[in-house]
Amino acid sequence: MKIEKYLKKDAEYYNIVEKIINHPEFIRRKEFRHHGNRTVYDHCLAVSILSYRIAKRFKFDYRSAAIGGLLHDFYYHPWQEKKDPRPFFKKHGFAHAGEALENSKIHFPELMNKRVEDIIKKHMFPLNIRPPRYKETWVITCVDKYVSMEIFKDIKNLPRYIGIFKNID
Ligand SMILES: [Fe+2]
Ligand SMILES: [Fe+2]
Repeated sequence: MKIEKYLKKDAEYYNIVEKIINHPEFIRRKEFRHHGNRTVYDHCLAVSILSYRIAKRFKFDYRSAAIGGLLHDFYYHPWQEKKDPRPFFKKHGFAHAGEALENSKIHFPELMNKRVEDIIKKHMFPLNIRPPRYKETWVITCVDKYVSMEIFKDIKNLPRYIGIFKNID
């Protein structure tokens, strides 16, 4: 099902995420390239919808799963477009979860809670070594990797997927 169609069909989901997906700063992610041809906007929406459905099915906190899924990659700048001068352990793969949390607190402070914050901060586990604290974080951590899976078709893409190197030749 197309994402836009899903948004119209599931009113409960739409009500939870409405504020985020209509916010100009979030809409700007339509211009951020993620992996392959996807934008960060599409990627985050896909992670959010799938995580929300899984969380609902297992009676977890699906509201936090939907919000955390949407904001997990809400970092400041489109990292694939520019050279990353940061030292190895400060590169995108290691740093963007913290950035996304900071940015989420700036734009959506009213949507933050301990689960949403844990989801955003730890979604790159095990790259970020602190493990998830809540079931909802585990869901997003796995769904994020699953949704980005096409990148695993070629193992050479792995460092690019985790945000350490942009081009591996
Ligand atoms: Fe991420
Ligand atoms: Fe992601």
